[in-house]
Amino acid sequence: MKAITLAAPGGLDKLTLSDLPDPGQPRRGEVRVALHASSLNFHDYLVCAGMSQTADGRIPLADGAGIVEAVGEGVRDFTVGDAVVSCFFPEWQSGPPLVGDFRGVPGDGIDGFAREHAVLPATAFTKAPAGWSHAEAATITTAGLTAWRALVVDGGLKAGDTVLVLGTGGVSIYALQIARAMGCEVIVTSSSDEKLARAKALGATHTVNYKKQPKWGRTVHDLTGGRGVDIVVEVGGPGTLAQSIEAVRIGGHIALIGVLTGAAGEVPTAALMVKQARLQGLVVGSRDEQEDFVRALEAAAIHPIIDRTFALADLAEAFRYLEGAGHFGKIAVTW
Ligand SMILES: NC(=O)c1ccc[n+]([C@@H]2O[C@H](COP(=O)([O-])OP(=O)(O)OC[C@H]3O[C@@H](n4cnc5c(N)ncnc54)[C@H](OP(=O)(O)O)[C@@H]3O)[C@@H](O)[C@H]2O)c1
Repeated sequence: MKAITLAAPGGLDKLTLSDLPDPGQPRRGEVRVALHASSLNFHDYLVCAGMSQTADGRIPLADGAGIVEAVGEGVRDFTVGDAVVSCFFPEWQSGPPLVGDFRGVPGDGIDGFAREHAVLPATAFTKAPAGWSHAEAATITTAGLTAWRALVVDGGLKAGDTVLVLGTGGVSIYALQIARAMGCEVIVTSSSDEKLARAKALGATHTVNYKKQPKWGRTVHDLTGGRGVDIVVEVGGPGTLAQSIEAVRIGGHIALIGVLTGAAGEVPTAALMVKQARLQGLVVGSRDEQEDFVRALEAAAIHPIIDRTFALADLAEAFRYLEGAGHFGKIAVTW
């Protein structure tokens, strides 16, 4: 079968289209899936660009969507022909967070989905929303489920809340769509007025250009009539957290998700304390949460925004496009 492999120590020029042995038939509890799409995440980029070490020959990409081709004995959740999407943490099925590293994560600690077929435990997948393309479904695994957990599982989002999303990448645009579908107001920041216009067209209540307004935390706070936002989808990290604390309401929730501005930095702890806000780190979610999210997507009838789609053989080019940060929403790869 065709697959992309990554030679150590990584780097986009170390991604190769290879011929690998067919994975064979599923054993008890396993499914064989014909994969057709993935989507790119910043974490996949860190692995493929060699900034996060992985094993030589690793098949990259955490997101995978396709069709069940064969089921092993004892598999009850799937039948041949089902459209499925992979789970970020195949070992975390339900309950509170169990995993604090990437050793079991496809495309990092184990082989990912940049390949034509995979044979894995059935518990490594959920059903995809009915009627979705494989590219759309693939966006659920990482970006979609992260946005869902930040807002709904951890943030306790309810109609009437105001959500702040930073930038217009995959997680943030998903969060915008989920929050709007659930009857919430959304404030979006971006470095680009053109992207802000697109966010408005998707239902953003207010928009702020964070390049033109470096103190955007105060601007956002003012836009809520001085109350502050209920939930911040914090994908920036150290370079944005102080402004997010400024923007959040007293007793609000900051979902600490991303490292776009770096991995460590100063936190204005006194400001956070006075706001009495909850700052919660999170990494994606469990399989049960993914099943809830798939049901919500079907009921809300929202579809992810895919900026551009690349062929699997052009994976390095797709990552260069991600690197340029010109995208809005998700970048997909199909085959
Ligand atoms: N913890 C988790 O479970 C989890 C899951 C998924 C992703 N993440 C992390 O979350 C972050 C976003 O992931 P993604 O997949 O959505 O990335 P992405 O699609 O590559 O997002 C890139 C966008 O982020 C925005 N951005 C960059 N610097 C910014 C800043 N200083 N302030 C505000 N926005 C900024 C830019 O938006 P504009 O072009 O509009 O300015 C840029 O286009 C990454 O750090 C990723 O590793 C974490």
